[in-house]
Amino acid sequence: MNKNFKRTTVTAALIYANGPIHIGHIAGCYLPADIYVRFLRATGQDVKFISGTDEHGVPITIKAKKEGITPQEVVDKYYGIIKDSFEEFGISFDIYSRTSNKVHHEMSQDIFKNIYDKGQFVEETTEQYYDEKNKTFLADRYIIGTCPKCGNENAYGDQCERCGTTLSPDELINPRSTLSGETPIKKATKNWYLPLDKMQPMLEKYVESHPEWKTNVLGQVKSWLNDGLKPRAMTRDLDWGIKVPLPDTEGKVMYVWFDAPIGYISMTKELTDQWELYWKDPETRLVNFIGKDNIVFHCLIFPAMCMADGRFIVADNVPANEFMNLEGDKISTSRNWAVWLHEYLREFEGKQDILRYVLAASAPETKDADFTWVDFQTRNNSELVGIFGNFVNRAIILTEKNFASVVPKQGELTDFDRQTLATLAEMPTKIGDSIANFKLREALALMMDVARLGNKYLADTEPWKVIKTDTERTATILNIGLQIVANLSILCEPFMPFTAEKLRTILNINHLTWSDAGRADLLVEGQSISNIGLLFEKVEEETVQFQVQKLENAKRQNLLEGKIVTPIKEEIQYDDFSKMDIRIGTITTAEKVAKSKKLLKLTINDGFKDRIILSGIGEHFQPENIINQQVTFLANLAPRKIMGMESEGMVLMAEDKDGSLSFIQPDKNIWNGAIVA
Ligand code: 2FM
Ligand code: ZN
Repeated sequence: MNKNFKRTTVTAALIYANGPIHIGHIAGCYLPADIYVRFLRATGQDVKFISGTDEHGVPITIKAKKEGITPQEVVDKYYGIIKDSFEEFGISFDIYSRTSNKVHHEMSQDIFKNIYDKGQFVEETTEQYYDEKNKTFLADRYIIGTCPKCGNENAYGDQCERCGTTLSPDELINPRSTLSGETPIKKATKNWYLPLDKMQPMLEKYVESHPEWKTNVLGQVKSWLNDGLKPRAMTRDLDWGIKVPLPDTEGKVMYVWFDAPIGYISMTKELTDQWELYWKDPETRLVNFIGKDNIVFHCLIFPAMCMADGRFIVADNVPANEFMNLEGDKISTSRNWAVWLHEYLREFEGKQDILRYVLAASAPETKDADFTWVDFQTRNNSELVGIFGNFVNRAIILTEKNFASVVPKQGELTDFDRQTLATLAEMPTKIGDSIANFKLREALALMMDVARLGNKYLADTEPWKVIKTDTERTATILNIGLQIVANLSILCEPFMPFTAEKLRTILNINHLTWSDAGRADLLVEGQSISNIGLLFEKVEEETVQFQVQKLENAKRQNLLEGKIVTPIKEEIQYDDFSKMDIRIGTITTAEKVAKSKKLLKLTINDGFKDRIILSGIGEHFQPENIINQQVTFLANLAPRKIMGMESEGMVLMAEDKDGSLSFIQPDKNIWNGAIVA
C-alpha cells in the first residue's frame, strides 16, 4: 500500500434492488468490505464506507414484469428489505443509499455531459434487435438464444448463465424476444459509446501499475485486455433509467453500468459535504469490493469513465471474491437455491456472528467455495463454542468463582506466561497485515489462534487446580487469561462485532482500539467484570435438518416446475459399470430402526442367504406393506455401519418429481439372486 494515502474510500457493490440478499452476496463482497472497514476504523484511519441499491437497468424492469408491479414499486420494496437486513447483520456502511435519488441522477447527468462535452464519446448508429410486436428495442436481457459456446438454448444477450461466457446479442444463435417469444428484427438506433478500444493502452497501463491485485481479478482483466476491448454503448433505448442529458434523446436512458458506479460518488456526496476529498484527492485510496461477476466493470469500464471525465480518482484495489456455492450447487435466485439473509436473521435471532464467522472462514477468496449447513454446525460447535466460547467462559467463570468477578492481581510472571504474552503481542500486527492484504480467511484464523492461545494457556496452567494451593499464582493466571479475553474483544471486532460488544460488556471496557491490542495490561486490577452467560450455543442437529429440508423443498419445487433437470453424470467406461453386482432379491422382513425416522432395517433373500440392508425409505413405506416385494439391490457394495448396525448393500430406488420413491422391480416375479446387467 502506498504510505502517502491520507484516507480511504471503500465501496461495496450496489446490488440491484430486485430481490433480497443471500449468503452469496455477503460472502462475495459485503462481509469482506465490512471486515476491512472495521479494521481501518479500529486503527484510527479516515474511511468512508459507501453502498446502496442499483435501481435501474433491465433486472429491475424484468422483476416488475414478473411481479406485475411498476419498476418504482420493485425498487421501493427491495431497498427497504436489503437495507434492513444489512443493518441487522452489522454491515457498518456510513451510508446506504439508492440510485433513484435526485443527487444521483444529477451527478450521473453531469458526468455524462462532461464526457460528452470533452468529445470523449463516439456517437454511432447501429442496427439493434427490435421487437416489432411490442414496438421496443430489446435490451440484452430481453433477448435469449442459443449460447455459441455451450449450446444452452436459454442464454441471455449479455451472458450465458450456464457456462458464464459474456456474450453480445449478435453472438446468440436463434435469438428470440423474451417479451413476445418472436424472432426480433434489426432496426437502426443512435447511441453513445465509450471507445474502450482507443482507451486500451491507458487501461493497460493502469492495470499494469497494480501487480498486487488478486490473481483472480488480474486473470479476468488480462483476459479481456488480451481479447482486445471494444467500444461499449453507454446509452440504451429503454424507458427505465436516467435520462440522457442531450437534445433529441427521447426514449433513451443511460446504460445501467454507466450510472451505477457513479452511485458510489453521488452517495458519498449525500453523506458528506467533504465528498470531493474522498473522490478527487490523489491522496485518497479507493477500494471497490465486488463479486467476480462485476470485475470487468470495476477494473476497466468505471476507470475508463473516470479517465474520460478526468475529475475522479480510480480504484487502487478491487478485491473481488469468487462465488459462494450452496450445498454443492450454484446459488440461484430463480431456483430459490439460497440462504436468504432476512430469513436467517429471523430464524437465528441474535446469531449474526455465527454466519459472519462461517462465511468469513470459508470465503471464496481465491476460488469458488461451498456453504453447507453441516459445515455451519461444525464451525459453530467446534470452533466458536469449543474454542472461542470455551476459553472466554472459563476465564470469566473462574474469576467469578475465585475472585468475586474482580480482575485479580498480575503477580510475578513465569517463563510460560512470558512466552504466551510474547505470542499474544505479535498477533495484532499479523492479523492487521492479513486484513490489509485482503487475506481475510487468514486473518480470521489468526484471530482464532488468539482464542486457542488462551485455551492452551488455561489448560497448561490449570488454575482450577492451582487455586487449591496458591491463590496468588491463580490470580496471575486469571489476570493473564482475562487480558487475552480483552485482546480478543479488539481483535474479533472486524469479524464478529456482536461478540466484541458482548466481550466489552463482560469486561466493562469500551475505550480500546487496535493499537492497544497485544498488551497484557488492558484490564486493571480490581476492575469488576460481569458474567452475561454463554457467548455461543451449540447448533443442534434438528436446526441443521430444518435448513437442509428447506433447501430440499426448494429443489423439489424446481423439479416439479421443470426448472431443473439433474444432469447426466460424467461418462464412465464399461469396466466401471461391470464392477457393480446388481441383483434381484425379496424383502422377507422389514422393521423401523429405533431413533430414526428415515431408516428401515430390511432382510433380503438374495438367493444365497438373508442379508441385512438398512435403507433410508422409512418416511415413504410402512414396513408391513413391503414384505415379499422384489427389489433390485447393489450386492457388492462394501458393508457400512449405520447407527451401530452393518448394512450389506443398497436397495435401488427411483425418485419421482414429487419426491415419492419406487422400488425397481422386475415385471414378473423372478428368482432371487438374478443378475441385473
Ligand atoms: O451485480 C449487480 O448487482 C450490480 N447492480 C452491481 C453494480 S456495482 C456498481 F457499479 F454500482
Ligand atoms: Zn454457454
